[in-house]
Amino acid sequence: MRLGLIGLGRIGAFHAGTLVGIPAIESLVVTDLVPEKTKQIVDRHRSEGVEGVDSLEALLASGVDGVIIAAGTDAHPELVLACVAAGLPTLCEKPVAQTGAAGAQLLRRLEGSTVPVQIGFQRRYDAAIAAARAAVVSGELGWVNTIRSTTLDPEPPPPEYVAVSGGMFRDCGVHDFDVIRWVTGQEAVEVYATGSNRGADFFRRYDDVDTSAAIVTFADGALGVVSNTRYNARGYDVRLEVHGSQDSVAAGVDDGWPIRATEPGVTFPAGPPHRFFMDRFLPAFRAEFETFLEVVAGDRPSPCTVADGLEADWIAEACARSMKEHRPVRIDEVRIP
Ligand SMILES: NC(=O)c1ccc[n+]([C@@H]2O[C@H](COP(=O)([O-])OP(=O)(O)OC[C@H]3O[C@@H](n4cnc5c(N)ncnc54)[C@H](O)[C@@H]3O)[C@@H](O)[C@H]2O)c1
Repeated sequence: MRLGLIGLGRIGAFHAGTLVGIPAIESLVVTDLVPEKTKQIVDRHRSEGVEGVDSLEALLASGVDGVIIAAGTDAHPELVLACVAAGLPTLCEKPVAQTGAAGAQLLRRLEGSTVPVQIGFQRRYDAAIAAARAAVVSGELGWVNTIRSTTLDPEPPPPEYVAVSGGMFRDCGVHDFDVIRWVTGQEAVEVYATGSNRGADFFRRYDDVDTSAAIVTFADGALGVVSNTRYNARGYDVRLEVHGSQDSVAAGVDDGWPIRATEPGVTFPAGPPHRFFMDRFLPAFRAEFETFLEVVAGDRPSPCTVADGLEADWIAEACARSMKEHRPVRIDEVRIP
């Protein structure tokens, strides 16, 4: 199979390395707005079947079977529409769009299209998170009273990333919002969120926060508790806890959990701590891409459509409004049809 990859920044460069390791991908055509980034990736992976082109148009005309979009969040809708217009199955990194309006407009413009689009929420492919979902689905947890999802980044992204990211809830919390929806199988109805700024000044400059917390109420009454920061120096801490009336499970509580227990004599976790999404989720990204290959081959529908992925964006949107207005916000208030 021949795939395209658009956007070769932090995650695009990492994805290129993962994609060339998948045997079914015979060649990869890459591009970035910055020609130097394209050149770097081609230089790094030329012998593994990577070719560079200097424009979106050239990539779409290069005979690829499907496209992966890893460009900045503000570019997602226009790139998805261009790939779909070319008839190419597309996998787009989260979140769907930088704003609610842009996400809703994308959904409208895709109406009636039969070209599959998959939104890249790789946590759905993490073995432990998928097992937590299976425990909910099987009923072995009883009814879920609380689901906690935590994403603590080790360090802040650069200011230019924050400028187009859509903000803390939409950029970082969106992973947690997607996971708690996916694991509980419930839709969120209301959120109550807050945030703070004690780190770099540029977060404030972009009307963003560096630390946030949100409480999500689901339709069946289950409560989601989501915690995020850009300043968790010990490492990349992604955990999920699901507490039910019969049993409780946790994902991400392994020896790489970046935390130091203070109980005398306790040596867990033994380390080394997870550093970032690259080491923490490499197997999940790989599984996500392998699923996308089945979508490209026409063997299965998209496992996370734009409409599905957008639900997490709406939770994020409601959180941003809740934080700004210091009040609970219902999802219906922010959803644009
Ligand atoms: N799934 C995850 O865990 C995860 C982790 C990090 C980032 N992401 C997502 O991946 C995306 C990229 O993040 P990043 O950290 O790599 O950002 P980045 O700023 O490091 O890189 C973005 C790259 O996209 C390029 N670009 C922007 N618009 C383009 C266009 N129209 N055509 C071609 N190239 C274009 C830029 O030149 C840049 O090289 C974001 O949407 C982000 O939310 C997902």
